[in-house]
Amino acid sequence: MHASAGIHGTWSHRWVFILAALGSSIGLGNIWKFPYITGEYGGGTFVLFYLLCILTIGLPLMMAEILIGRRARLSPVHAMQLVAQESGASPRWGWLGWLGMISGFLIFSFYSVVAAWIFDYVLAMAGGQFVGIGATQSASYFAQLLHDAPSMLYGHSLFVVLVMLVLAVGLRRGLDRAIRYLMPMLVLLIGVLLAYAASTGYMPHALRFLFRFDLGTLSAEAMLVAMGHAFFTLSLGMGAIMTYGAYLGRNESIGRAVLTIGLLDTLIALLIGLAVFPVVFASQLSAEAGPGLIFITLPVAFAQLQGGQVLGFLFFLMVGFTAWTSAVSLMEPSVAWAVERFRIGRPLAALLLGLAAWLLGVAVLHSFDLLSHWQVRQLNLFDLLNFVTSNLFLPLGGIAVSVFAGWVVSRELTAAELRLSSDWLYRCWLLAIRYLVPLAVALIFVINLYNVWL
Ligand code: PHE
Repeated sequence: MHASAGIHGTWSHRWVFILAALGSSIGLGNIWKFPYITGEYGGGTFVLFYLLCILTIGLPLMMAEILIGRRARLSPVHAMQLVAQESGASPRWGWLGWLGMISGFLIFSFYSVVAAWIFDYVLAMAGGQFVGIGATQSASYFAQLLHDAPSMLYGHSLFVVLVMLVLAVGLRRGLDRAIRYLMPMLVLLIGVLLAYAASTGYMPHALRFLFRFDLGTLSAEAMLVAMGHAFFTLSLGMGAIMTYGAYLGRNESIGRAVLTIGLLDTLIALLIGLAVFPVVFASQLSAEAGPGLIFITLPVAFAQLQGGQVLGFLFFLMVGFTAWTSAVSLMEPSVAWAVERFRIGRPLAALLLGLAAWLLGVAVLHSFDLLSHWQVRQLNLFDLLNFVTSNLFLPLGGIAVSVFAGWVVSRELTAAELRLSSDWLYRCWLLAIRYLVPLAVALIFVINLYNVWL
């Protein structure tokens, strides 16, 4: 291995990085979370604000994370230490990496529970349990699943094992090939769902719901959630993309990679939205069904389609697959850190961290029965982790990374890593990362605090 490639090596080709970063960013955030929060927060205005956050906060921040990772070729803790020192600043910036690893861990714990639902749905589709199902039965199927911790435990355990296996052998083997073939398949299946959605005659309703802008409906909390989701869906604010950046070759264009990733991630989310909402309206389901939205809606759609059980089986399988590639990136910063810090092998690091993540996940999957009385502001453990990580931890990590990249890291270094095609573009990036990102995120925090106190 070439010395400058660092102890973890590099991706074999630029496309591998883009594919892996896509694998990280496209996941349950796009397919499960985006539709249900859009439904909860009223549609169009929320969506527009979310798109704005992707563009003005997400993309500049993604560039910052990649450039720091690539510069140091190490996990976030050590990358930030190194880059800080290179710029004559305190190595204590490395602490930021800790916040990221904790966020990744916490997100993983509920992510795995949703993956367990997906797993259940794959089996249920294969077993023909959704044949001819209507909206009411579909809703009660999901409600029952939530109270069936033992069967969720299978899915959860399997998911943790699968993620740990990839982490143990290292990311470069197989991940790229798998993503290259399976992503197009996912898009194809979304296409089938879209065609069905259009056939319900409710596409105009969905379009109006998703894209009609009405400033009056934008609450402080909706702004917070839209911003938080921009972080979540792009895997920002916890070092996942930074860690993948550490394996990116020196000569690749960061700007182009970021544009591709941002565009495709957003596209998938919007397409899923367009596939889900016509069915929601046509079956008179509530757009505000919460985390169960796609689990209640999509079986109804598949039940109407010819060959729907096979299509549904494949669809949930693909969703499970995208969850897998995202979850790997949630844990990769911790695994890479443990390998660097304790000089242990990847398999051991993956095993130990996997065990810890599994335990936490077991607690989370009891959010709906044993631990359901355990609530903070009417949020159970699952909801709480889901809310706090996206809307507090990731944005806080984002502010810190933007301050670090904009004010602490020397301009020579950032300019040399980004190598944007014009000075003007670099200035725009610097402006965004120095002022826009930290101030916008802070402002949304302040507005929300103010709202809670009043
Ligand atoms: N971006 C992933 C998704 O949309 C989730 C994720 C968040 C992955 C943070 C890594 C880091 O599902």
